[in-house]
Amino acid sequence: MTAPISDALVLFGATGDLACKKIYPALQQLVRRGGLDIPVVGIARGGWNLDRLRARVHDCLKSRSDFDAAAVARLSDLLRFVDGDYDDPGTYDRLCAALAGAQRPLFYLAIPPSMFPAVVGGLGGLPCAADSRVVVEKPFGRDLASAQHLNRVLHKEFDEAAIFRIDHYLGKEPVQNLLFFRFANSFLEPIWNRNYVESVQITMAEDFGVGSRGRFYEEVGAVRDVVQNHLLQVIANLAMEPPVGEGSEPLRDEKAKVFRAIRPLTGRSLVRGQYRGYREEAGVAADSRVETFAAMQIHLDSWRWQGVPFFIRAGKGLPVTATEVMVALRRPPQQVFAESIPARSNYLRFRLGPRQVSIAIGARVKRHGVENVGDEVELYVCNTHDDEMEAYERLIGDALKGDATLFARQDSVELAWRIVDPILAMTTPVHEYAAGSWGPSEAGAMIDEFGGWHNPLAAG
Ligand code: BG6
Repeated sequence: MTAPISDALVLFGATGDLACKKIYPALQQLVRRGGLDIPVVGIARGGWNLDRLRARVHDCLKSRSDFDAAAVARLSDLLRFVDGDYDDPGTYDRLCAALAGAQRPLFYLAIPPSMFPAVVGGLGGLPCAADSRVVVEKPFGRDLASAQHLNRVLHKEFDEAAIFRIDHYLGKEPVQNLLFFRFANSFLEPIWNRNYVESVQITMAEDFGVGSRGRFYEEVGAVRDVVQNHLLQVIANLAMEPPVGEGSEPLRDEKAKVFRAIRPLTGRSLVRGQYRGYREEAGVAADSRVETFAAMQIHLDSWRWQGVPFFIRAGKGLPVTATEVMVALRRPPQQVFAESIPARSNYLRFRLGPRQVSIAIGARVKRHGVENVGDEVELYVCNTHDDEMEAYERLIGDALKGDATLFARQDSVELAWRIVDPILAMTTPVHEYAAGSWGPSEAGAMIDEFGGWHNPLAAG
């Protein structure tokens, strides 16, 4: 059964940063591709009006390389505006009036989670919200207890099936391609397990610092910012069993099983780092111990993955911006030729962006000549499109259609917090590293016996 399509989009936080940087660009693209032709109602406090909102949307989009004047003009026509405080019941009455008969609005809460109770309470019992859906953004809590609290707040008015939690990594083309590549080919399955895979590593490197987000980052750090959500989701795509049946739930069930199988982290499996200069960034405490780098080893207690270490490394102020997965296969069981095969000669490497989506298979081939010695080569496929759909466009389009496949379900979010919770409160050392380096040297030790970290190259 296909879900009914939303007939209005309501944006709480219409004048905020998230709307400007991510949501309006996505809406422009949706309009351009013919995927958005419903009223878009912006809500904001204090002195805004429709003309000012239209100007803001234009300003947010005008200097982007994908600016499309015709699409922006159409988006502008779809805009409506409601002025008002989130605590004021009158705001919600005006919202219903602005919705002018829409039956199935999609409410997008592009606002800090501290404001969710007021907005969800305001929407409660509204005639125009009876058959609605809601989109929420990360940070989805800051630990297990706060995530559970947020879920309780949302569930007061919305069923789980009507809640769409955005983890934009799930909307990325290369992250979806991981699943597709695994389950649309048969050659991978026989080796995709503990018998053939020796280790898995995921590096999410960013060559920039926290910039203007210092204040936000002080509240989160690398583990909360990208590990608990984005990188655990990548692990789920790599490690899950094939879903049984179609639709969003069988797939989300399998992901939840992966999270259930991951052992909660301990201080021993974690190295934290902070780039030199972080403490001088705006909004950052002079004695901050917040990590801008985290490396960790993860274990899955499952039949398929028992004993295979999954290493995660994420950091800001690293040499390149790139996210890569490296699945290292075991060495051949016997030495047939004179040379002994180095570790990690056979592997699958997945580039998850930015811009580039690629898959490479590492293999050894004989070097030309009389001796039986080899060289490492890569069989390499790169699939890059100029007009690639950005994650937010894909996700907002899916939420409007009521397709929850690429959204984080409550159980997975809570299970992911359960995995990282034990290390959040720990005062493990925070090692300083030079900006532009691959993080603190201490991160190397945990992976030495598996051939060390693979450092992604800069985007070509
Ligand atoms: C966000 C984090 O969720 O993801 C940022 O808050 C991070 O710190 C960003 O830079 C990375 O996403 P992308 O899509 O830019 O690779």
